[in-house]
Amino acid sequence: MSKNSRKIYIFDTTLRDGEQSPGASLTPEEKLKIAKQLERLNVDVIEAGFPASSPGEMAGVRLIAEAVRRPVICALSRMLSKDIDACRRALEPARKKRLHVFLATSQIHRQFKLKKDKREILKIAVENIQSAKKDFKEIEFSPEDASRTEVRFLLETVRAAIDAGATSINIPDTVGYTVPQEFEELIRTLIKKNPELGEKVVLSVHCHNDLGLAVANSLAAVLAGANQVECTVNGIGERAGNASLEEVVMAIDTRRDFIDCYTDVKLREITKASRLVSHLTGMVVQPNKAIVGRNAFSHESGIHQDGVLKKRQTYEIIDPKRIGLSGSQLILGKLSGRHAFKERVKKLGYALREEELDAAFQKFKGLADKKKYVFDEDIEAILEEDVAHIPEAWKLEYLKATSESGRVPFAVVHLNARGRILKAESEGDGPVDACYKAIEKMVKSGAKLSHYGIQSVTGGKDAQGEVIVKLFVVGREVTGRGTSTDIIEASVKAYLFALNKVSAHLLPETSDEPSPV
Ligand code: KIV
Ligand code: ZN
Repeated sequence: MSKNSRKIYIFDTTLRDGEQSPGASLTPEEKLKIAKQLERLNVDVIEAGFPASSPGEMAGVRLIAEAVRRPVICALSRMLSKDIDACRRALEPARKKRLHVFLATSQIHRQFKLKKDKREILKIAVENIQSAKKDFKEIEFSPEDASRTEVRFLLETVRAAIDAGATSINIPDTVGYTVPQEFEELIRTLIKKNPELGEKVVLSVHCHNDLGLAVANSLAAVLAGANQVECTVNGIGERAGNASLEEVVMAIDTRRDFIDCYTDVKLREITKASRLVSHLTGMVVQPNKAIVGRNAFSHESGIHQDGVLKKRQTYEIIDPKRIGLSGSQLILGKLSGRHAFKERVKKLGYALREEELDAAFQKFKGLADKKKYVFDEDIEAILEEDVAHIPEAWKLEYLKATSESGRVPFAVVHLNARGRILKAESEGDGPVDACYKAIEKMVKSGAKLSHYGIQSVTGGKDAQGEVIVKLFVVGREVTGRGTSTDIIEASVKAYLFALNKVSAHLLPETSDEPSPV
C-alpha cells in the first residue's frame, strides 16, 4: 500500500436492497441486530431502509437511527416530498444521517416507467434535491439505470444534481448490464467532466449481479476513481443480488498491491456478519461462495492438502483467521465447564450478560449430551438463536413423531403456552407435516408454509440440522429457524420461532381451551 493509497467508503445496503431479495423479510428488531453487527464491521454508511414504503420500514430505520451511532445512517427516497418527509422523520434521532434520492434516467425508464422527457427528469431531480437541502446536509443522488442512460444525458443530470447540492453521486448498474471495461470508462468520463467527483463529492457505484459481474464492475469503478462502493453482506439483493461486501472488501485488501486502496472494514467481523445475515434472512449461503461459503477454505484434493500443510499460501490467498474463522476444529465436549464455555463465547466475539451466558451454557450442556464434539459453529447456532430474543409465547414441551413404511406419519406435540400445557396430535404427509398440523390445531395461526430448507451446521453424522422456514401469516412473511441434532425437532423449533415472532397478532384468538389429545 503506497502512502497515496485511497480510502474506499463502504456503503452497506443489506437492510435496504438486500432486504428486497425475494423472501428476505426482516422485522425491525432483526434489522437492528444486523445494523449493530454492521457497526462492529465498521462500515461507513448503513442504508437502513425505505421509510415511505411501509410502517415496518419506517420503524426499522428509526430504531437503527436511535441505536447505531458510529456509521452514517441513510434512508432511501423517491423524488417525492412525502418520501423525503418520511426519511426526515425516520432519521430524526440519527447522529449522522444521509438522504438517498433516486430517479431513473435511462431512455427505457423515462419512456415506459416514468413517461417523462429529459427536461422533466432534470427539473424533478433539481427541485427535490434543493428542497431536501433544508433538512439534510448529506444528500446522495442516484440516476437509476445510469449504466443504460445516454452518456450525455447522464453527465447533464449529474452536473445538475451536484449544482443543486448533492454531496454524493451514486452510479447504479441497476440491472447488472454493464461490463468492467465499459463501466471503468464511464466512471473516468464522469470524473473528467466533474473533477469534484471522488474528491469533494463522493463518487459511489452500486452494481447488481445479473451477469455475475457486480464485484468486478465495482472494482473497475474503484480503479477508475470511484471512492464509495455500495454492497451487501453475502451479496443478497434484488434478483441476482448486489456486489458482495465481503468480496469487494477482501479483493481490495488482498490485492492492495494492484488496487492501492483500503477500506476501514474490520475483517475479523466478516464471518459473523455473514452468518447473522444468513440466519435472520433465511437465505442460505452457497457452499462455494467466495470468502464466506462453507467450502471457501476447504481443500479436497490431496495435492492441495499437501501443499497447504507445507505452506498455507500455496493454495490459500487469504488466511481464514483474518475474516474471523477461528481455524479451531474440535473444541468442547460434555465435560467442558462453564469457564471454558465462557472463554470460547468471548473468543467468538459475543458479549453476553451473566444470565444470557447461563441460558446459553444450559443449551450447550444439553447439546453436549447428544453430540460428542461441540464445534464453534454449534456454539454460534446456540448464541444466534438466543440473540434473536423473541419472547416464547409457544414453547416445545414434548414431541413424538413416527414414520413407518406403509403407515401414515403421525405426530404428538405438547406446547407450553405461557404456562398452559396444550396437547395435540395429527397425521400428515410426512413427520414434519404431521407436527405442523398438530401445532396448527393448538395455535390456529392459519400460517402457510412458503419455504422449508435444511442444512447441517457442521460435518459428522451427529451434526446438528438447521431448519429454516418461511411462513405466510397475519398478512406477512416471517422467517423461523431451529437447530437440533434431531431434524424433526429442529423443524418444529423453526416453525414455533416464526409463530413466536407474530404471537402478539395471534394470541387473542388462540387463548381458548387446548385441544384434548
Ligand atoms: O439498483 C438501483 O438502481 C438501486 C437504486 C435505488 C440506487 O437500488
Ligand atoms: Zn439496487
